[in-house]
Amino acid sequence: MSYSPGLKDIVAVETRLSHVDGEAGELVIGGYPLEEIAERATYEEMVYLLWHGALPTAAALERFAGELAACRPLSGATHDLLRTAAAERRPVIDAVRMASSSLPVRDDTADARSLVAGLPTVVAAYWRLLHGEEPVEPDHGLGHAANLLYMLTGENPGDDRVRALTTYLNTVVDHGMNASTFTARVIVSTRSDFISAVTGAIGALKGPLHGGAPGPVISMLEAIGDADNAEFYLREKLESGERLMGFGHAVYRVRDPRADVLSRAARSFFTHDHDLYALALHVEETAIELLEEYKPGRRLQTNVEFFTALLLKGLGLHPDLFTPMFAVGRVAGWTAHCIEQRAVDRIFRPESLYSGDKTRRWTPVDKR
Ligand code: ACO
Repeated sequence: MSYSPGLKDIVAVETRLSHVDGEAGELVIGGYPLEEIAERATYEEMVYLLWHGALPTAAALERFAGELAACRPLSGATHDLLRTAAAERRPVIDAVRMASSSLPVRDDTADARSLVAGLPTVVAAYWRLLHGEEPVEPDHGLGHAANLLYMLTGENPGDDRVRALTTYLNTVVDHGMNASTFTARVIVSTRSDFISAVTGAIGALKGPLHGGAPGPVISMLEAIGDADNAEFYLREKLESGERLMGFGHAVYRVRDPRADVLSRAARSFFTHDHDLYALALHVEETAIELLEEYKPGRRLQTNVEFFTALLLKGLGLHPDLFTPMFAVGRVAGWTAHCIEQRAVDRIFRPESLYSGDKTRRWTPVDKR
């Protein structure tokens, strides 16, 4: 038996959902290169692709979109939970985790639908409750991404904002055997339910080394403020052993292909506030140079979170919503992996390497 901390380089799952080539900087989702599909598909098409293995026909898409729409409204129990959490000012991602666990467990198909359709409603309702406003009911006439923006603001979003959010959700929909997806698969491997799996996955996603990075990216850009401060600020962080948020990746050794797609989508929102976008490009360039200086040969590059932060900020979303938005996109991948894992039906049970003592003898409590 070999020991691989973090299961690095261990292949434990076979999947048709997505493929990441960290050396070439390639991401394939459901057979399509990311650049081919992310800026064209609706989110509903993306979910269908992952769940069914092919893009839907027009008729199948209409039926599927209707099925998801029917699952958007939340139960009274979930609403009550969100009100209690808002009264206690719980962080948004924690409220999303709690609300996810409150969804009723039925069968796998119903659970997958209520997770994908319900999480945007949860995020929007909780955000409004936190700000003293009543939740806005979903609009049956709007699609997935449009509904999310509508439920957040109560206003019909323009096509450009809907397209940008859809591109974001599509870009993060699935990404190989990342920590949260693995968590979901481990939970389903015990023959547990999809609601539990996604709730666990949200818990894994919120960590700053995974989906919690984009909020700190904005804080970093705001703290730098001016391009002239970038090098000093970033050097100081690296000198004190801190990690630069939005850089480095467990798999990519070149620029994350998702960064390009998101950078393109973000640019249009900064025509009036070009400063932040220009600052971000300068910080990106400086950070990569300094990372090579401080971590030579590690090939640390921009990851998805850097331009996620910029795009979501451009959409007018508060940084506290960034990780919840990631969950709203990734839930399609999580549920698709749950479906795959259900078919495999094999429990995960790796080994551990015991490094403790074996010779201890019992000492009564009064003698310790
Ligand atoms: N800033 C400074 N140093 C870094 C960074 C960074 N962003 N990323 C990695 N390093 C360092 C590591 O500390 C390590 O140093 P060491 O060898 O001297 O101990 C070295 O570079 C190599 O690290 P890797 O093995 O390439 O990275 P690892 O797999 O350990 O971590 C991770 C990957 C967690 C993403 C890391 O790059 C990181 O913490 N980045 C910042 C947080 C971030 O942006 N997270 C979002 C990731 S994308 C996603 O999950 C959706």
